[in-house]
Order: sequence, then C-alpha cells, then structure tokens
Amino acid sequence: MTIRAFRGDILSVAHDPLICPDAVRHEPDGLLVVEDGIIVARGAYADLAPVHADVPVETLPGLIVPGFIDAHVHYPQMDRIASHGEQLLDWLDRHIFPAEKAFADRSHADLVAGLFLDELLRNGTTSALVFPTVHAHSVDALFDAALARNMRIISGKVLMDLGPEGLADTPETARTESEALIGRWRGKGRLGYAVTPRFALTSSDTQLHIAGALLATHPDVLLHTHLAENERECAAVAARFLDAADYLDAYDRFGLVGARSVFAHGIHLSDRACARMGESGAGIAVCPTSNLFLGSGFFDFSQAARHGIKLGLGTDVGAGTSFSMLYTAGIAYQAALMRGHRLDPFRALYLATAGSAALLHIGDKVGGLLPGQEADFVVLDPAATPLLARRTADADLAERLFALQILGDDRAVAGTYIMGRRVDCA
Ligand code: GUN
Ligand code: ZN
Repeated sequence: MTIRAFRGDILSVAHDPLICPDAVRHEPDGLLVVEDGIIVARGAYADLAPVHADVPVETLPGLIVPGFIDAHVHYPQMDRIASHGEQLLDWLDRHIFPAEKAFADRSHADLVAGLFLDELLRNGTTSALVFPTVHAHSVDALFDAALARNMRIISGKVLMDLGPEGLADTPETARTESEALIGRWRGKGRLGYAVTPRFALTSSDTQLHIAGALLATHPDVLLHTHLAENERECAAVAARFLDAADYLDAYDRFGLVGARSVFAHGIHLSDRACARMGESGAGIAVCPTSNLFLGSGFFDFSQAARHGIKLGLGTDVGAGTSFSMLYTAGIAYQAALMRGHRLDPFRALYLATAGSAALLHIGDKVGGLLPGQEADFVVLDPAATPLLARRTADADLAERLFALQILGDDRAVAGTYIMGRRVDCA
C-alpha cells in the first residue's frame, strides 16, 4: 500500500454548473490524499493535514485540476493534422483515408499509438474516447500502449463496409472482429470498448444493424460515431435514408441512439433530433477546433441546453488543430459566441473533465477529483508564458481559468499525474 498527499490550489467542477450552480469546488490551499492511486480524502490543508500527519506531502505549485478527458479524437490521424484545403468529404478522401490505409501494418500502428498517447499526456489528457482504423489490430496497438501507460482509454474497431478500397470491412468481419476484441480486452487495465461505425455514409444498413445488435448484446460498451457535422454530408444522408426523419433518426432505426451513445459534432440538428437525444440520454462530443478547421459550422450550445443534452469536449485531431483541451476550451468559447452563447470558463472546465467523463460513462472513476475516484490530475502553470504571467498576476480564479483557456496550451501543463504518479512526458 502506498499513501501520499499533494498540497496545492485545487479546482474541479464535478457537475454541470448550468444545472448545479454550486458545482465549482475550490480549495486555494488544499490537500489531496491518494492511496494506491485512489483519492481517499480532499479538503482544506488546515483541516486534513492533522488527520494525515504521517503521510508524505508533495507541494505542487500551480493550479491542480482533473486530468483532461478528450471525448473524441482519432489516433491514426495525428500525422495528418494541418492538412490543407478541403471540407469534410474531400478531406477524408484526399488526406485521411490514405493515412489510415497505412495501419494495415501493425508495427506502424504500434509506433503511432505510443506517440499519440504520449502527446495526450504532454497536454494533460489522461483519458480519451478514440477512433482507431478499420483494422482490428489498430485497437490492439492502442490498448497495448494504453495498458503500458495505465491510461483510461476507450476505443473500438471502426466499422465501414462502404469505405474505400483497402479500408472496407464487411458486415460479417465487423461482427466477428468486434466480438473478438470485446472478449480479448474486457476487464483489462482501465480500458473500455466502443462499437464504432465511422458514420452513416460508410456503413450499409446490414452493418448498422449489426452495430445495434452488438450494443444490445454488450450493455457495458459505448456507441461512438459522427453525426451532422457538414452540410454536404447531411444532404447525402438525407438522400440515402429517405424514410428517416433526420440524420439522428437514421441511426435510431438501427438501435444506435441511447444513453451509451456518443456522437461527435452534432452541429446541424433539428429540434426533433435534439429532443430525442435529450430524452434518450445520448450525448455529443463538441469539437470546436475541428468545426472551424473543416468549415463545418458552430455548435449551438443554447439549443443543446434547451433539450438537456449531455455534452463533453473533444479535440477531433486530425481535423482538430490541437491536442490541448485548454486550447480547445478557448475555441469552444469563441465558437459558442458565434451562436450568441456565453460559455462560462468553469463550465468549459467541466466539459473538458467531468462532462466528458459522464458522456463516456466513466464519471464514477475520473473527472471530479472526488474521494473514491482515481487520482488522474494535471498541474497548470498560470505563468507558463510571459503574457499569461502578466494577464493572471492579479486575476481572480475565474479570470485565471479563462486566461489559461484563451492563452494556454501544452506549455501551461506543468505536470500530468496518472493514479497519483507523475508521468514523464517531456
Ligand atoms: N466523419 C466521418 N469520418 C470522419 C473523420 O475521420 N473525421 C471527422 N471529423 N468527421 C468524420
Ligand atoms: Zn472525428
């Protein structure tokens, strides 16, 4: 048994401040007591120190927040970040599908999976819901690398039987390979599985039906896909699914809309679709840097709030332009304003931590720095750059947090801790 404690300025937002106005928890001089990687106590240093007098204490300068949770990101696309010139469908054809074909080689997948997870950690991201490729061994490569780093990672083989040559599976291999992966990885480390049809356009009706059957058979797995991201994509979905009320309904017909469903983007949604999402408990991974980069549009935070839709925050690298969830939160603020919504910095922190955790059904494990949760946390340096130092010098907590989101990125991450252990990710 190892027990240690961390002293510092501790901040977390374990519940949605829109629903729970006193969700912000802040101890300017706090103590986090960690036993075998699990938080066993948290509170003011003055109150807790006498009770834990025998426990070694490490003082951490900066702001301690929960490890970030990226609710939607593609590991095979990391080397195609910043690919110029196209909107979604042309960008996939020109830049992404060729890059994903290279993952037919397991050693390439192993190499990129390790680099990808190290990049997450460097940015303070300790958990993520990750798209791999259609190749089953791309999941093995990611899970092996995540296990070696003790990270909480959720992923699942991409299903895309209508994909381009070299990347297409079949309904049958979608079923057998997904079943084999679920069996192989269930209960290992901190890993979780997600049935992952790429999007409606790359799966046949038969394959979407199989995805629904997989979900129904395995109540512990998530559904992870893309929804209503781009106008041309939405038009193509409407042209194919003539009986569907809208894009979400095309998924719904195959049993893909429920409390365990995570949809990336959801920019172009009808009120009917939003009402259905709210009532079903399905949620959206909001990906603002990607939406700007591909010219997809701006997420409507007000519409989502009206319908009580669960939200998390995702980078969506390689369409996303940064691995930093701080930077992503800053762009979320600016994107929200484009649709008349003022995203509060504490709510943005919630979305990047406990909101994403709830969306990914790991909210009992991580995201709030609460006793009983795993001690994944990040130390942020509000003086990481000269400009940040000037801007945060006399700032209150809300201003400091907002400045970190608008001006900060990986440079502001002074340390990343996985289950109470500092990660070396230079
Ligand atoms: N829709 C289908 N595939 C993708 C993808 O790889 N990235 C994004 N942003 N949208 C998608
Ligand atoms: Zn994506």
